[in-house]
Amino acid sequence: MTKLPSIGQPVSRLEGREKVTGSAKYAGEYNVPDLLYGYVINSTITKGKIRSINTAAAEALPGVIEIFSHENRPALAHFDLQYTDMDAPPGMVFRPLYDSEIKYNGQPIALLVAETFELARYAATLITFEYDEEAFDTDINTNLDNARPPKLGLATMLKPPPPKPRGDFEGAYNNSYVQAEGEFHHGTEHHNPLELYTTTTIYEGKGKLKIYDKTQGTINSQLFVANVFGLHFKDVQVISTYVGGGFGSGLRPQYQLFMSVMAALELKRNVRVTLDRQQMFTFGHRPPTIQYTKFGAEENGRVNALYHKAVAETSQFEDYSEVVVNWSNMLYPADNTLFEYELVPLDVYSPLDMRAPGGSTGSHAIESTMDELAYKLHMDPLDLRLLNYADKDVSVGRPYSSKELKECYMQGAEKFGWSKRNPEPRSMKKGNKLVGYGMATGIWEANRLFARAQAIMTPDGKLQVSNAVTDIGTGTLTVMTQIAADTLGLAINDVTFLYGDSKMPFAPIQGGSFTVATVGPAVEAACQAIGKKLLKLAKKMNNSILAGADIKDVLFKNGSIVLKENMLTGVAIKDIMATNKGKSIKSTNSAMPNPLKLKGHSRAAHSAVFVEVEVDEELGVIEVTRAITAVAAGRIINPKTATSQILGGMVWSLSKALHEETISDARFGKYMNANLGEYHIPVHADIHDFDVIFVDEKDTVVNDLGIKGVGEIGLVGMPPAIANAIYHATGKRINDFPIHFDKLL
Ligand code: MOS
Repeated sequence: MTKLPSIGQPVSRLEGREKVTGSAKYAGEYNVPDLLYGYVINSTITKGKIRSINTAAAEALPGVIEIFSHENRPALAHFDLQYTDMDAPPGMVFRPLYDSEIKYNGQPIALLVAETFELARYAATLITFEYDEEAFDTDINTNLDNARPPKLGLATMLKPPPPKPRGDFEGAYNNSYVQAEGEFHHGTEHHNPLELYTTTTIYEGKGKLKIYDKTQGTINSQLFVANVFGLHFKDVQVISTYVGGGFGSGLRPQYQLFMSVMAALELKRNVRVTLDRQQMFTFGHRPPTIQYTKFGAEENGRVNALYHKAVAETSQFEDYSEVVVNWSNMLYPADNTLFEYELVPLDVYSPLDMRAPGGSTGSHAIESTMDELAYKLHMDPLDLRLLNYADKDVSVGRPYSSKELKECYMQGAEKFGWSKRNPEPRSMKKGNKLVGYGMATGIWEANRLFARAQAIMTPDGKLQVSNAVTDIGTGTLTVMTQIAADTLGLAINDVTFLYGDSKMPFAPIQGGSFTVATVGPAVEAACQAIGKKLLKLAKKMNNSILAGADIKDVLFKNGSIVLKENMLTGVAIKDIMATNKGKSIKSTNSAMPNPLKLKGHSRAAHSAVFVEVEVDEELGVIEVTRAITAVAAGRIINPKTATSQILGGMVWSLSKALHEETISDARFGKYMNANLGEYHIPVHADIHDFDVIFVDEKDTVVNDLGIKGVGEIGLVGMPPAIANAIYHATGKRINDFPIHFDKLL
């Protein structure tokens, strides 16, 4: 039996056994009778029109059922205005098979449906396309003249534009005692969760569909399918119980969902469409971004001037944007500021949120420029941060709802042994290797959205709670079970959390590190409502000690309702339910952010990261030998799953700083390393001593549970800490990610 209360306990992932033994079924693993398989064909040109398609050879193969393209796509799809999703940026959502136009390389242009996957994939190779090619542009570096501010849209709510300029940046910068500036280049990155994108659509007749979809939002996929195909919302069920990683790639419905549903409706059959690894590089990516910084400080180290500009790629049809530059002034309270964010539309697919979108990009420029300032001031980089510590968010003139970043700096530095650092670059050595210590700050928004949950207490005193949210591997199932259990004082073994089904109460897409802060309060609200009903029943029991009690007089503890003033006696929930004539009790409740309470505060999670690198200068080999991330993210529901989130972000940080990049060849407009063989990521041998600290942080503003969310914060501070450590080791300031060894030679 797990310890009570379970919030704060390192409870192991409840679905862990299913996942490691293979009994957990993913979207492409459901055994479905009479299943057809679709294989998507992607454009090999970057821009132009499809002149003709020759399908004769493919159609001649026995077992090939249908080939869909713009020439014969069913009329039932594509209602222009309805074709959208919850995460769509301003612009026109890309519609596969809409017409003959090619907008980007790898665009899905046909679907071949056959009796088996292997046949579908083979037959697809027999289809030939003739194109009328047009000139295109996919290189941000040669198109910077076309940069312009993004169009604003609904998404602006969660992605605010840069703050307005304050004071006189130019004047203050020019008169600064020291100045540091930088130009930072980040390449394209592609999400590569282990599980490939798959949709299995079960045709249930009369416009009814049951869909197993790989997604980060069951209701988002449900809305999308209902809108695009003109179906009744309630006739579309989207199930996504297990998700083999998302990282943002499933925040929007992907084209295999459209293809699978289209084929199922048209053929009135069950259809599965699976994308392969190469096709993972054909929808959504972290955009290449170029940043410029100019930070100025006074003689005492006070930063008085901040300039930060970012220029990023978007597609020709949507204005995807990120928060890249705003963080500068949230972290450092300079009075003279200038911030700019611009987009360059290119002939590529729209970028897509990828773990810590914008934050992981912006923090590199901010924190490496601060590092540079520290050297120019002959100041310790940590002391410079402490001197410029922001007690409030001056970019919007509001206090933080809570901010224990100072504690992160202190605990992280202590555990790392930061005081042993020799400030001089190239001064620390181990054998023939140069040793470097680097540090940086991380910040990520603490958002919350609307959600609903249902709770059912069954006659045997067991609790079942449900919500449509997915669990993309973050531990959502476990954490929601803990919140439900604690709200009613139950052991987690007596609680079942059902999730990953669009028929369940509303959850938004799972992303932005806002899931626990969004769904958690809804789970809590539904359980509290059950608590009230239980008390009502308990009061009616014979000689009830709770007869005169109000809900505020009682606690839910160890499976009982007890009086706060006398916690030794209570009424067991099982006994209360036994009086309910064999009936369950049920409640469905909503939870939404309280705008009045929130509007007076900025809300963010923070981190401090300390990194040790060893650089073999002769070979240019860089090893991250030690790293510590200290996080302040409000209340941590489960330190085990939360630690895993941060460790994952730290591994990814190493990948981002040293390995990962999708290389595009502008002559072809095509990604050249669209596979895991050539898309470099770290392996086990690259990962050494990583450590995570959660500092205590109480927050009474963000939500009643005090949750800020963890996940993305793990990927914000560490990439610049690695770059700063490499500078300390070698004296070489490399501002282009990834830092491959050739850049050091
Ligand atoms: Mo994450 S990029 O919010 O799935």
